[in-house]
Amino acid sequence: MNEIRSVAVIGAGTMGHGIAYAASLAGYSVAITDADSATLERGESRIRAAFDKAVERGKCTVAERQAGLDRLSCISTPAEAVIDADLVIEAIPERLELKQRLFSSIEDAVSPQTIFASNTSSLSISAIASVLARKDRMIGLHFFNPVPVMKLVEIVRGTETSDAIVEVARRFAVSLGKTPIVVKDSPGFASSRLGVVLGLEAMRMLEQGVAIAEDIDRAMELGYNHPVGPLRLTDIVGLDVRLAIADHLHATIGADTYKAPDLLRRMVSEGKLGKKSGQGFYRWESEA
Ligand SMILES: NC(=O)c1ccc[n+]([C@@H]2O[C@H](COP(=O)([O-])OP(=O)(O)OC[C@H]3O[C@@H](n4cnc5c(N)ncnc54)[C@H](O)[C@@H]3O)[C@@H](O)[C@H]2O)c1
Repeated sequence: MNEIRSVAVIGAGTMGHGIAYAASLAGYSVAITDADSATLERGESRIRAAFDKAVERGKCTVAERQAGLDRLSCISTPAEAVIDADLVIEAIPERLELKQRLFSSIEDAVSPQTIFASNTSSLSISAIASVLARKDRMIGLHFFNPVPVMKLVEIVRGTETSDAIVEVARRFAVSLGKTPIVVKDSPGFASSRLGVVLGLEAMRMLEQGVAIAEDIDRAMELGYNHPVGPLRLTDIVGLDVRLAIADHLHATIGADTYKAPDLLRRMVSEGKLGKKSGQGFYRWESEA
């Protein structure tokens, strides 16, 4: 059954450019697109920078970097980007109707064998698939940030996802050097459902003046051996992304644990989105 040779990545932001880089490094032909042409250009230069870093660190040779870049194409529209794709991975904002609209707009442009994957952090794979004629082709492929570094891929099986597609997705994740886990389609899956709790509670502690951001993060880094504290991690993820996930988990799971703190909502409305905007709980130098 479907062997994957070419991958289309829709969305070239924080996650999309990283997924495209990882797939291209692993030997796949990759087409990447974004609704915003400046983000697509920036995504391409970030992929180039990632390949440069891989050469510096001995993860690939100069010839392999060139071959990886030759396998990559930046395309202006999703409809063109997906034409030859065996696997389409979307990494567009965490809004159900956006993801549904995207997949239904490309379903007629791809072959019946093409697999559709969402990088959603929390939304229902079955709900995304509900707009498709072929619901069995949809799966969750949840990568983590930064994609080149993080080993986990959470594979989310929707109610109608076929076993064969779960298996292809598992092999694809392994071919990228990742460790897959297979999770039921439930809000926030195994990762965000747990991880977001820590981030939101850290913000409530900041609101209540328990400690400054650096010290709340240090408590988890030095006391619990977390590589990155929950506030710094929220900056890396993007405050807007975290807010969308929290709102979805609060609406679906219901527990107050997932209620977004006012501080988070206010910072997002002020454009303080974390690393990508230069300001979140910390100040960030502009990215490459
Ligand atoms: N940021 C993280 O740490 C992280 C981690 C795991 C999963 N995710 C998930 O990945 C997805 C993307 O998150 P992100 O942080 O990369 O977001 P982002 O805001 O950095 O990038 C999203 C990109 O999608 C583009 N876009 C929007 N609508 C589009 C469309 N219809 N067609 C093509 N491009 C479109 C935007 O222009 C933007 O560049 C979300 O579902 C998020 O929950 C994020």
